[in-house]
Amino acid sequence: MSRSAFTLDGAEVPFDDGQTLIEAARAARRYVPFLCAHPDYPAHGSCRVCTVLVNGRPMAACTTKAAAGQVVESDTPALTADRRALVQMLFVEGNHFCPGCEKSGGCTLQSLGIELGVTSAGFAHESPVRPVDASHPDLLLDFDRCILCELCVRASADVDGKHVFALSGRGLHKHLIVNAESGRLVDTGMSVDDAAASVCPVGVILKKRVGFSTPIGQRPHDVATPRQQVEGKEGA
Ligand code: FES
Repeated sequence: MSRSAFTLDGAEVPFDDGQTLIEAARAARRYVPFLCAHPDYPAHGSCRVCTVLVNGRPMAACTTKAAAGQVVESDTPALTADRRALVQMLFVEGNHFCPGCEKSGGCTLQSLGIELGVTSAGFAHESPVRPVDASHPDLLLDFDRCILCELCVRASADVDGKHVFALSGRGLHKHLIVNAESGRLVDTGMSVDDAAASVCPVGVILKKRVGFSTPIGQRPHDVATPRQQVEGKEGA
Protein backbone atom coordinates (compact mmCIF):
# COMPACT_ATOMS: atom_id res chain seq x y z
CA MET A 1 0.00 0.00 0.00
CA SER A 2 1.26 3.45 -0.81
CA ARG A 3 0.59 6.55 1.22
CA SER A 4 -0.56 9.74 -0.44
CA ALA A 5 -2.44 12.74 0.92
CA PHE A 6 -5.31 15.13 0.33
CA THR A 7 -6.29 18.22 2.27
CA LEU A 8 -9.38 18.39 4.45
CA ASP A 9 -10.34 21.92 5.46
CA GLY A 10 -6.74 22.88 4.85
CA ALA A 11 -5.11 20.09 6.88
CA GLU A 12 -3.16 17.32 5.19
CA VAL A 13 -4.73 13.87 5.54
CA PRO A 14 -2.70 10.82 4.46
CA PHE A 15 -4.49 7.84 2.96
CA ASP A 16 -3.84 4.30 1.78
CA ASP A 17 -4.85 3.11 -1.67
CA GLY A 18 -8.53 2.18 -1.70
CA GLN A 19 -9.54 4.20 1.35
CA THR A 20 -12.53 6.47 1.10
CA LEU A 21 -12.35 10.07 2.23
CA ILE A 22 -14.22 9.33 5.44
CA GLU A 23 -12.03 6.30 6.23
CA ALA A 24 -8.85 8.31 5.76
CA ALA A 25 -10.25 11.23 7.72
CA ARG A 26 -11.30 8.90 10.55
CA ALA A 27 -7.84 7.29 10.62
CA ALA A 28 -6.36 10.78 10.92
CA ARG A 29 -8.83 11.53 13.74
CA ARG A 30 -10.61 14.12 11.67
CA TYR A 31 -14.40 14.08 11.89
CA VAL A 32 -16.69 14.30 8.88
CA PRO A 33 -20.37 14.16 9.96
CA PHE A 34 -22.09 10.88 9.01
CA LEU A 35 -25.19 8.82 9.66
CA CYS A 36 -25.37 5.72 7.47
CA ALA A 37 -21.62 5.06 7.40
CA HIS A 38 -20.15 2.53 9.84
CA PRO A 39 -16.49 1.54 10.06
CA ASP A 40 -17.35 -2.17 10.09
CA TYR A 41 -19.50 -2.17 6.96
CA PRO A 42 -19.08 -1.16 3.31
CA ALA A 43 -20.33 2.32 2.51
CA HIS A 44 -24.01 2.70 1.80
CA GLY A 45 -24.14 6.32 0.66
CA SER A 46 -27.82 6.93 1.35
CA CYS A 47 -28.08 9.73 3.91
CA ARG A 48 -25.77 12.28 2.22
CA VAL A 49 -24.93 13.83 5.59
CA CYS A 50 -21.25 13.24 4.82
CA THR A 51 -21.36 15.31 1.64
CA VAL A 52 -18.18 17.35 1.23
CA LEU A 53 -16.78 19.47 -1.57
CA VAL A 54 -14.04 17.69 -3.51
CA ASN A 55 -12.22 20.17 -5.70
CA GLY A 56 -15.40 22.22 -5.48
CA ARG A 57 -17.85 19.41 -6.36
CA PRO A 58 -20.26 17.89 -3.82
CA MET A 59 -19.44 14.23 -3.16
CA ALA A 60 -20.34 11.74 -0.41
CA ALA A 61 -17.21 11.29 1.71
CA CYS A 62 -18.16 7.72 2.59
CA THR A 63 -18.29 6.51 -1.01
CA THR A 64 -15.64 8.71 -2.65
CA LYS A 65 -12.17 7.22 -2.87
CA ALA A 66 -9.36 9.41 -1.66
CA ALA A 67 -6.95 10.61 -4.32
CA ALA A 68 -3.69 12.48 -4.06
CA GLY A 69 -3.98 16.23 -4.15
CA GLN A 70 -7.76 16.45 -3.64
CA VAL A 71 -8.88 19.64 -1.95
CA VAL A 72 -11.72 18.59 0.36
CA GLU A 73 -13.94 21.00 2.26
CA SER A 74 -16.29 19.79 4.98
CA ASP A 75 -16.58 22.46 7.64
CA THR A 76 -18.26 25.25 5.68
CA PRO A 77 -21.39 27.27 6.55
CA ALA A 78 -23.20 26.04 3.42
CA LEU A 79 -22.48 22.36 4.06
CA THR A 80 -23.45 22.76 7.70
CA ALA A 81 -26.75 24.33 6.62
CA ASP A 82 -27.37 21.45 4.20
CA ARG A 83 -26.64 18.88 6.93
CA ARG A 84 -28.95 20.69 9.31
CA ALA A 85 -31.76 20.56 6.73
CA LEU A 86 -31.14 16.83 6.11
CA VAL A 87 -31.35 16.10 9.82
CA GLN A 88 -34.51 18.18 10.15
CA MET A 89 -36.10 16.27 7.26
CA LEU A 90 -35.27 12.97 8.92
CA PHE A 91 -36.78 14.16 12.18
CA VAL A 92 -40.09 15.21 10.59
CA GLU A 93 -40.27 12.13 8.35
CA GLY A 94 -40.54 9.84 11.38
CA ASN A 95 -41.81 10.18 14.93
CA HIS A 96 -38.80 11.10 17.04
CA PHE A 97 -39.48 11.98 20.65
CA CYS A 98 -35.96 12.02 22.05
CA PRO A 99 -36.76 12.61 25.74
CA GLY A 100 -38.92 9.47 25.81
CA CYS A 101 -36.74 7.29 23.61
CA GLU A 102 -34.62 4.52 25.11
CA LYS A 103 -31.88 5.31 22.60
CA SER A 104 -31.55 8.88 23.84
CA GLY A 105 -27.92 9.60 24.66
CA GLY A 106 -26.74 6.96 22.22
CA CYS A 107 -28.55 8.00 19.05
CA THR A 108 -26.44 9.24 16.15
CA LEU A 109 -29.33 11.27 14.70
CA GLN A 110 -29.96 12.96 18.04
CA SER A 111 -26.25 13.71 18.55
CA LEU A 112 -25.91 15.09 15.05
CA GLY A 113 -28.94 17.32 15.61
CA ILE A 114 -27.42 18.68 18.80
CA GLU A 115 -24.05 19.19 17.14
CA LEU A 116 -25.63 21.05 14.21
CA GLY A 117 -27.72 23.24 16.48
CA VAL A 118 -31.06 21.89 15.29
CA THR A 119 -33.60 23.50 17.61
CA SER A 120 -36.76 23.33 15.50
CA ALA A 121 -38.40 20.96 13.05
CA GLY A 122 -37.93 23.32 10.12
CA PHE A 123 -40.47 21.40 8.02
CA ALA A 124 -44.03 20.17 8.51
CA HIS A 125 -44.22 16.95 10.50
CA GLU A 126 -45.25 13.92 8.45
CA SER A 127 -46.45 12.11 11.60
CA PRO A 128 -46.59 8.72 9.88
CA VAL A 129 -48.54 5.86 11.42
CA ARG A 130 -46.16 2.94 11.81
CA PRO A 131 -46.44 -0.17 13.92
CA VAL A 132 -44.36 -1.27 16.87
CA ASP A 133 -43.32 -4.95 16.85
CA ALA A 134 -43.02 -6.23 20.40
CA SER A 135 -43.46 -9.88 19.43
CA HIS A 136 -39.88 -10.98 20.13
CA PRO A 137 -39.11 -11.96 23.75
CA ASP A 138 -35.88 -9.95 23.88
CA LEU A 139 -36.16 -7.25 21.23
CA LEU A 140 -38.56 -4.49 20.27
CA LEU A 141 -38.87 -2.77 16.89
CA ASP A 142 -40.12 0.81 16.64
CA PHE A 143 -40.32 1.55 12.92
CA ASP A 144 -41.12 5.22 13.66
CA ARG A 145 -37.44 6.00 14.02
CA CYS A 146 -35.98 4.27 10.97
CA ILE A 147 -33.65 6.42 8.85
CA LEU A 148 -33.24 3.72 6.16
CA CYS A 149 -29.50 3.37 6.70
CA GLU A 150 -29.73 -0.40 6.10
CA LEU A 151 -27.15 -1.13 8.79
CA CYS A 152 -29.45 -3.78 10.32
CA VAL A 153 -30.05 -5.23 6.86
CA ARG A 154 -26.33 -5.42 6.22
CA ALA A 155 -25.47 -6.75 9.68
CA SER A 156 -28.12 -9.45 9.60
CA ALA A 157 -27.15 -10.60 6.10
CA ASP A 158 -23.38 -10.17 6.14
CA VAL A 159 -22.49 -10.90 9.77
CA ASP A 160 -25.35 -12.93 11.22
CA GLY A 161 -26.17 -14.77 7.97
CA LYS A 162 -29.88 -14.52 8.75
CA HIS A 163 -31.35 -11.88 6.42
CA VAL A 164 -33.89 -10.84 9.05
CA PHE A 165 -34.40 -7.33 7.64
CA ALA A 166 -34.95 -5.78 4.23
CA LEU A 167 -36.12 -2.52 2.72
CA SER A 168 -39.33 -2.59 0.71
CA GLY A 169 -40.95 0.00 -1.56
CA ARG A 170 -39.43 2.90 -3.43
CA GLY A 171 -38.94 6.60 -2.89
CA LEU A 172 -41.18 8.04 -0.21
CA HIS A 173 -42.72 4.62 0.34
CA LYS A 174 -39.45 2.85 1.13
CA HIS A 175 -39.60 1.24 4.55
CA LEU A 176 -37.97 -1.40 6.72
CA ILE A 177 -39.59 -4.83 6.86
CA VAL A 178 -38.99 -8.11 8.68
CA ASN A 179 -38.37 -11.12 6.47
CA ALA A 180 -41.04 -13.45 7.84
CA GLU A 181 -44.36 -14.48 6.38
CA SER A 182 -46.08 -12.93 9.38
CA GLY A 183 -43.86 -9.85 9.20
CA ARG A 184 -43.14 -10.28 12.93
CA LEU A 185 -39.70 -10.48 14.47
CA VAL A 186 -40.61 -13.43 16.67
CA ASP A 187 -40.99 -15.54 13.53
CA THR A 188 -37.38 -14.99 12.46
CA GLY A 189 -34.22 -16.55 13.82
CA MET A 190 -33.07 -13.26 15.29
CA SER A 191 -31.24 -13.36 18.61
CA VAL A 192 -30.44 -10.57 21.04
CA ASP A 193 -26.76 -11.47 20.55
CA ASP A 194 -26.86 -10.89 16.78
CA ALA A 195 -24.82 -8.06 15.32
CA ALA A 196 -28.04 -6.66 13.88
CA ALA A 197 -29.46 -6.28 17.38
CA SER A 198 -26.80 -3.73 18.33
CA VAL A 199 -26.03 -1.88 15.11
CA CYS A 200 -29.03 0.47 14.81
CA PRO A 201 -27.75 4.08 15.06
CA VAL A 202 -31.19 5.31 16.12
CA GLY A 203 -33.93 3.77 18.24
CA VAL A 204 -35.55 1.21 15.93
CA ILE A 205 -34.05 -2.00 17.36
CA LEU A 206 -34.17 -1.96 21.14
CA LYS A 207 -33.26 -4.61 23.69
CA LYS A 208 -36.00 -5.26 26.18
CA ARG A 209 -35.51 -4.85 29.94
CA VAL A 210 -32.44 -2.61 29.66
CA GLY A 211 -34.07 0.67 28.61
CA PHE A 212 -33.05 3.74 30.60
CA SER A 213 -30.74 1.62 32.76
CA THR A 214 -27.75 3.87 32.03
CA PRO A 215 -27.96 7.13 33.99
CA ILE A 216 -27.90 10.45 32.16
CA GLY A 217 -24.28 11.53 32.08
CA GLN A 218 -23.02 7.98 31.51
CA ARG A 219 -24.85 7.15 28.26
CA PRO A 220 -22.63 6.44 25.24
CA HIS A 221 -22.84 9.91 23.71
CA ASP A 222 -22.65 11.59 27.11
CA VAL A 223 -19.23 9.99 27.44
CA ALA A 224 -18.15 10.73 23.85
CA THR A 225 -20.23 12.02 20.95
CA PRO A 226 -19.58 10.55 17.48
CA ARG A 227 -17.33 13.57 16.80
CA GLN A 228 -15.44 13.02 20.05
CA GLN A 229 -15.12 9.28 19.33
CA VAL A 230 -13.48 10.04 15.97
CA GLU A 231 -11.31 12.81 17.36
CA GLY A 232 -10.30 10.71 20.36
CA LYS A 233 -11.62 13.17 22.92
CA GLU A 234 -13.77 12.37 25.90
CA GLY A 235 -16.83 14.49 26.66
CA ALA A 236 -16.86 17.02 29.43
FE1 FES B 1 -22.13 9.04 3.71
FE2 FES B 1 -24.54 8.56 4.76
S1 FES B 1 -22.64 8.77 5.80
S2 FES B 1 -24.04 9.01 2.68
